[in-house]
This record gives sequence, structure tokens and C-alpha cells, in this order.
Amino acid sequence: MPAQIIDGKAVAAAVEQEVRADLAKLPYKPGLVAVRVGNDPASEVYVRNKARKAKELGLHGTELVFDALMREDDLLSEIRQLNRDNNVDGILVQLPLPKQIDPKKVIDAIDPAKDVDGFHPINVGLLHLGRPTLVPCTPAGVMRLIGSTGVEIAGKRAAVIGRSDIVGKPVAALLLRENATVTICHSRTRDLPGIVREADIVVAAIGKPRFVTAEMIKRDAIVIDVGINRLDGKLAGDVDFDRVREVASWITPVPGGVGPMTIAMLMKNTVTAAQKRRG
Ligand code: GUN
Repeated sequence: MPAQIIDGKAVAAAVEQEVRADLAKLPYKPGLVAVRVGNDPASEVYVRNKARKAKELGLHGTELVFDALMREDDLLSEIRQLNRDNNVDGILVQLPLPKQIDPKKVIDAIDPAKDVDGFHPINVGLLHLGRPTLVPCTPAGVMRLIGSTGVEIAGKRAAVIGRSDIVGKPVAALLLRENATVTICHSRTRDLPGIVREADIVVAAIGKPRFVTAEMIKRDAIVIDVGINRLDGKLAGDVDFDRVREVASWITPVPGGVGPMTIAMLMKNTVTAAQKRRG
């Protein structure tokens, strides 16, 4: 029997309903500011969608756009101003940034209590200590999708393919927190297919279209595809979906899997940040 499809749109809609319910209990409107510097076409779409979804759910969503030639110091001042603004609960600076701006300095400047991307070193540290914190949105979405299968994570072997700060490392920390035995695979890993083939849960986040083939997948594994690649003018994940579907028990499609989850989790983080900061 082919794998069951994990419906990211449906799970994201459920998360959005939770956000609406939480908002209904608050006497104020949490504020989210999405900052973009320059005109990267993908970033334009992402930032617009984040601000739009915030408004749709009843948050105060603002898009703040700056010139591609902006100076680093000026961006840092803008962030400090957002840190001081009591109506701002969540601050997100879309990456990548133009080359004259050091993303580390920008992330470090964000108040950790408003860091709804979960990228600040304080929040990364708390995550790896297994302490409550704002968790990066895509990894939080991945966990929610795995949770939607109802399959227990504790004791399972998990392979995370890719070691980025945005996806691979935080996903690994979250799986470990749920008591999986986690291996992070990357470009220098020896016998990557052999390691992935032992995994009950596979998270692919490498950015190479159809990198994960059916031969790498253990029968009845759960396969989560974080990849968004262009291949022959179409969107393709990191997983060879059609073949892997014949081996796995559960699998996410691209599009319609992890993608819809990221913004939903961002909205959830913004509400969490507001509740925590405002008491
Ligand atoms: N660029 C790619 N992914 C992300 C993300 O999750 N947040 C931000 N701010 N920028 C990104």
C-alpha cells in the first residue's frame, strides 16, 4: 500500500484555528513586523504572505521594506526601535540580507522575547537545552506534521538530512527532545544512504531536488520533505515523491506539505510571544 499523504494545508488550517481561538481571549491585538531589505523576489512573496496572514487571522501585521543599499547601522537602529515599541510582539527579518549587512549582527539585535523566528542565540540555546522558548517556524511545523500521523516518536531512529541553522539543526534538537535517536547527515557524511535507510523518521532539508530516493528509505518510514526546488519549471521537493511513496508509511507532498506550516507556526509564535511578554 502506498504511503498516506500528510496534508500540510489541513494541519496548517488547524493551527490557524488555534491562533484565532487564542486571539479571541486576548484584550489586545498582537503585533508582528516582517522586515525586508532589498528586492529578492522570493523574499517579497514570503514577507507579503506573512503580513497578509497575520491580518487575516486578526493580528496587527506590518511589512517594513528598506532599500537594498541600506546601511547595517541603520537596520540595527530600526530593530532597536521595534524592540522598544510595546505594540510590537514579534519581529522577523527576512533572510537572505544584502551583502553589506551581517545577518548575525541583525539577529543578535532582536529582543529574544520578540524573536518569532527563534534565531537569536539565546533562543537557540534554550531549544538545545530542551527548555521552553520560541522555536523556529519550519522545524516547529515539521514536528506538528509528524505529530499529526499519531505515530510515537520516542525511541525511534530519525535521520535529518541537512545541517542548516534554520531547519536541520533545530529539527534535530526537537526530535531529540521527543526522545528520538537522531543522526544529522550532511555533505561530508560517509554512506549517507546507509544511515538514512536505518531511520524510522526522515527529514529532508538539503535543497537538492529528488535527492532522497526509494532505495534510501526503510519500509514504513515517515518522510518529511522540507525542500523547495525548481526543476524543469516546476516545484520539486528533496524527495523523489512518486517512488518513495511506495516504501514509506507517511509522506509530505511538495507543495502542500511543510510549506503551509511555516507561516501558521509564525502566527502561533507571535501569539505566544505576546502572551509571555505582556503577561
Ligand atoms: N529565509 C528562509 N527561511 C526563513 C525563515 O524561516 N525566516 C526568515 N526570517 N527568513 C528566512
